[in-house]
Amino acid sequence: MTNKMWGGRFASGPDAIMSKINASIDFDQKLYAQDIAGSKAHASMLAQQGIITKADAAAIAKGLDQIKTEIEAGKFKFSQELEDIHLNIESRLKELIGDAAGRLHTARSRNDQVAVDFRLYVREQVDGLLAGLKDMMLALAEKAEAEAGTIMPGFTHLQVAQPVTFGHHLLAYVEMLSRDLGRFQDARKRLNESPLGAAALAGTSYPIDRAATAKALGFAGPTRNSMDSVASRDFALEVLAACSICAIHLSRLAEELVIWSSAQFNFVKLSDQFTTGSSIMPQKRNPDAAELIRAKPGRIIGAFTALAIVMKGLPLTYSKDMQEDKAQVFDALENMALAIAAMAGMVRDMKPNREVMNAAAAMGFSTATDLADWLVQKLKLPFRDAHHLSGRIVALAENNNVQLAELSLKNLQSVHGAIDQSVFKVLSVAASVKSRKSFGGTAPANVARAAKRWLKILKGNDK
Ligand code: ARG
Repeated sequence: MTNKMWGGRFASGPDAIMSKINASIDFDQKLYAQDIAGSKAHASMLAQQGIITKADAAAIAKGLDQIKTEIEAGKFKFSQELEDIHLNIESRLKELIGDAAGRLHTARSRNDQVAVDFRLYVREQVDGLLAGLKDMMLALAEKAEAEAGTIMPGFTHLQVAQPVTFGHHLLAYVEMLSRDLGRFQDARKRLNESPLGAAALAGTSYPIDRAATAKALGFAGPTRNSMDSVASRDFALEVLAACSICAIHLSRLAEELVIWSSAQFNFVKLSDQFTTGSSIMPQKRNPDAAELIRAKPGRIIGAFTALAIVMKGLPLTYSKDMQEDKAQVFDALENMALAIAAMAGMVRDMKPNREVMNAAAAMGFSTATDLADWLVQKLKLPFRDAHHLSGRIVALAENNNVQLAELSLKNLQSVHGAIDQSVFKVLSVAASVKSRKSFGGTAPANVARAAKRWLKILKGNDK
C-alpha cells in the first residue's frame, strides 16, 4: 500500500526498514500540542483570508481539539506508517471531519510546520528554564544572606588560599547563573519569530497573512526569509549552547557539594531529601543528586554537539537530516530543567557547619597574605620583600606545628625586628575577611549588601 498522505506517484509502499528509519513519530509525538496550536492558527488565518470557508475552519478547529483530548487521554493510536506527528494528526482529522481536513494543509508544508512546532516547544522549555534559574538564584541569594559572615577557606588549586565567607562563595554562583539567564533571554528573543507560511521553502501564492499567525502563536512577528525559515535550527543550537554553559556551572557547584559534604570536609550537611543511603554501608549518605547534576553536561553538551554535526554542511533548504534535530534537544532541555530544580532544592535544604568551616579557614596559613600586606602597610616594605618574609614566617609556623596567629611575638621578630604586637590583629581569619572591603571583595558587609541587592532584583520581577 502506498502512503495515503503523499503516495500519489508511488506504485508500492516502503520497505519495512525504510518505514522504520523514516518515522519520527516515536519522538516527535511530544510536539502534539504545538502542532495542534500551529494548525489552529493556520486554519483560522486561512478562513480570515477567504482561502478556506469559515465552516471548514471551524470543523478543523473542533476536530483538532478532539484529537488533543484523545492524545492526552492516551486514546490516540500513533502509527509508524504515518511517519510523524504532523501526518498522524492530519490523518486522524480526516477520519473525524472528512474532506475539510484536506484543506488544512493549503499554503503550508511540513517543512514550515515542523519549524514552527519546534520553535514553540523550545520557547516553552526556555520559559521554564528561566523561571527555574531565577528560583535557584533566589535559593542561593537567601542562603548567602544568612551566611554573609560565615568564614570558610577560599581555595585556589583546591589548596587553602585566603579566608572568604560562605555567602561570598554562593554569590559567585548567582553571578554565573545571572549570565546564564541572560543567555537564555537573548536566545528566546532571537527564536521568537514565526516560520509558519514559509511553506516548503519558497513561500506561497495564496494570499496568506503571516503576521496574523505569528501573533496568534505569541511570536514577535514572522521570519523574513522563507528559505532561512525552513533551513535553520540555530535557535535550538543557541539554546543548547546556553544549556551547555549553564550545565557546566551547575556541575561545578555540584562537585563542591560533593566535596563539602564528604566526612573529610564536613562543611555542609545535605538533607535526606536530596541524598540516598547505601544498601550495604549503613553509615552512608550519598550525594546522588549532586553527582547526577555533575554528570549532566555529558548529555547536554552531547546534544549540542549532535545537532551541530547534523547541521554542519547541509545545503539549503530542508533535508531529512533535520529530522534528527529533535530527540536530543528534548532530552537536553528536560534534563537541564531537572538539574536546575534539583540544585535549587539541594541548596535550600543544605545546612552549613559554621564552626568546621571557620576552623578550616584558619588552617593552611590562610592569612599569610594579610601578614605580607601588614608588612607593606606598617613597615613600608616593598610587596615582594614582604611576601618573602611572610613566607619565612609560614615556614617557621610549619616547623613549630602551629598556625600563624599562634606564633609568639619573639618568633615573629626573629624574622623582622620591627614587627610589633599589632600584627596579631591581621592574623585572624575574621580580621582577614573583614578587611577585604574592595568592590566585589569578601568582607561580610559587602556580602550582605550584595545578597540584598540580588534578593531585591529576584523578588522584584518574578517573570
Ligand atoms: N518529520 C519531519 C521532521 O521532523 C517533518 C518534516 C518533513 N518534511 C519533508 N519534506 N519530508 O523533520
